[in-house]
Amino acid sequence: MVDNSFDLVVIGSGPGGYVAAIRAAQLGLKVACVDKRGKAGGTCLNVGCIPSKALLQSSEKYYEAKYHLAEHGVKVDTVTLELEAMLGRKDDVVKGLNQGVSLLLKKNKVEEIHGTARLLGTGKVKVNDSDAERVLSTKNILIATGSEPMPLQGVVVDEHNVVSSSGALSLSKVPEHLVVIGAGYIGLEMASVWRRLGAEVTVVEFLDRITPNMDAETSSVLQQSLEKQGIKFRLRTRVVGTAQRDSETIVSLEAKNGSRVEEIGCEVVLLAIGRQPFTTGLGLEEVGVRVNARGFIEVDDKFETSVSRIFAIGDVIPGPMLAHKAEEEAVVAVEMMVGQSGHVNYRCIPSVIYTAPEVASVGFSEEELKESGIGYRSGKFPFLANSRARSSGLDQAGFVKILVDEKVDTIVGAHIIGPDAGTLIAELTLAMEFSASAEDVARTCHAHPTLNEAIKEAALAACSQPIHF
Ligand code: FAD
Ligand code: NAI
Repeated sequence: MVDNSFDLVVIGSGPGGYVAAIRAAQLGLKVACVDKRGKAGGTCLNVGCIPSKALLQSSEKYYEAKYHLAEHGVKVDTVTLELEAMLGRKDDVVKGLNQGVSLLLKKNKVEEIHGTARLLGTGKVKVNDSDAERVLSTKNILIATGSEPMPLQGVVVDEHNVVSSSGALSLSKVPEHLVVIGAGYIGLEMASVWRRLGAEVTVVEFLDRITPNMDAETSSVLQQSLEKQGIKFRLRTRVVGTAQRDSETIVSLEAKNGSRVEEIGCEVVLLAIGRQPFTTGLGLEEVGVRVNARGFIEVDDKFETSVSRIFAIGDVIPGPMLAHKAEEEAVVAVEMMVGQSGHVNYRCIPSVIYTAPEVASVGFSEEELKESGIGYRSGKFPFLANSRARSSGLDQAGFVKILVDEKVDTIVGAHIIGPDAGTLIAELTLAMEFSASAEDVARTCHAHPTLNEAIKEAALAACSQPIHF
C-alpha cells in the first residue's frame, strides 16, 4: 500500500529542494521530494548551470584549438566543429547527473515523486501526474519551485527564432547573427558560447554598462575583453519588439532616452533580461501564503512563510538567484525546522560569470561601499604580473581586487576577473566568513607558482606592502 504521510514534503527538486530533502532525511525526517519535470535537479541541472557550463567548456576548447594552440607550438591542421556531438555531450553530462541526484535521494530514503504539486492547506499537498493523483499529509512543507525567464512585451519566445536560455542551450546550428537582449549572466555566457562557435553576436543592454550590479571597474574590463573576442554591445538601448520578416528576425531597438528607433536583422534572438519567481498553480493565495510586490514568497529568518509550517527557499524567495544560495538556505531552513539554530550569511555568497575571462565577486563592490559611506582601502594585483598566468598563457587581462574596511581592517569585498576566478574566489569567501583581515591573507603561505599568489599579492597591496608589483 502507498504510504502518503510524511514529516516533510519538498516541492521542487532543484539545488534548493533536493539538498533540503537530503539534509532533512539525514536529520531523521520522513521526506518526499516532488517535481513536475520528470527528472531531478531543477533548472540548475537540466536547463541552467550544468548544460551552460558544459557548452562553455566545449566551446572554449574549440576556440582554443582554432586560435590559441599554435602559440604553444602545437599545430593542428584543421579544426572542425561537430555541433551535434557537442550538444550530445552536454545532454549526457546532464543525464548522468540526473541519475546521480536520484540515486542520492534514494540512498537517503527520500521518496522522489514525479508530478505537479498544489498546496491544499497546512499539512496537505496534492500531487498530479499524467495518470494519477495523490494527496500527501505532512507536518511540514518546503516550497522550492525556483524561477522562470522574465517575459518582455513585444517579444514572443517561440524557442526557435526567439529563444529563452533553454532554447539557447540547444540551437541545432550556429546562427549567423545572434542578438542577445540583456547583458547579464545568461546573456554574456550564451553570447560567449555562440561567438566562440562562429556566430556574429550583438548584445543589447538597457543600462549604461554590462553586468550593472557588478563592481564597475571589473565590468569595464570584462566588456573590453568580450569586445576583443568580437562581441558587439549596444548599451543604453532597449528592445521594443521583435518580428519575423521572411527568414529574418527583426529586432526593434530604441535608445534609452527614446530619441532614436532602429531595426536590426538577425537569425536568432535570445531573451535574457532576468528571471522571476515561479509559483504558478501552487495555490498560494487559497492557502494564504503571502508574496511581495514582485511575486517572491515572503519568509521570516527561519524561512517560514506567512502560513505556519510552510517554508520556502531558493529562487522563489528574495535574494540572488544562484544555486549555491538555494543550497545554503536549504540546509539552514531544514536544520531550523527541527529546532537547531543557523543562519545564511548573505554577505558571503560569491557570484561567478563563466565567461573568458571569468568574473567572480563576493561582498561589497566599491560603488556599494561609497554609497553606504563605509571607508575602505583597496589592494589590487594584475594577472599580467602573476607567473603562473604568464606561463600558462591564460588570459592576462584581469586582476584581483580586495576591499578592506578602513576602521576594522576586515575584508569586506573581493573582485576577481581572470583565469579560474570562480575557483579563486573561494579563498576570499572563506577569509570573509572568518572575518579575516588583508594581513591574515597576506601572511598565509601560498604555493608558487599558482594563480592564488595573485590573491596574496592583492592582500599585500591592501596592506601597502606589495612585493611583485
Ligand atoms: P530550480 O532549480 O528552478 O528548481 C525548481 C524545480 O521546481 C523545477 O525543477 C520545477 O520543475 C519544480 N517545480 C516548480 N513548480 C512545481 C510544482 N508546482 N510541482 C512540482 N514541481 C515544481 N546559478 C549558479 O549558481 N551558477 C550557475 O552557473 C548558474 N547558471 C545558470 C544558467 C542558466 C541558463 C540559468 C537559467 C540559471 C543559472 N543559474 C546558475 C541559476 C540557478 O539555476 C538557480 O539559481 C537555481 O536553479 C535555483 O534553485 P531552486 O532549487 O530554487 O529552483
Ligand atoms: P540578469 O539579471 O543577470 O541580467 C539581465 C540584464 O538584462 C540586466 O543587465 C538588465 O539591465 C538587462 N535588461 C533588463 N531589461 C532589458 C531590456 N528591456 N532591454 C535590454 N536589457 C534589459 O538576468 P539573466 O542574465 O536573465 O539571468 C537570470 C539570473 O540567473 C541571474 O541573475 C543569475 O542569478 C542566474 N544565473 C547565474 C549564472 C551564474 O551564476 N554563472 C549564469 C546564468 C544565470
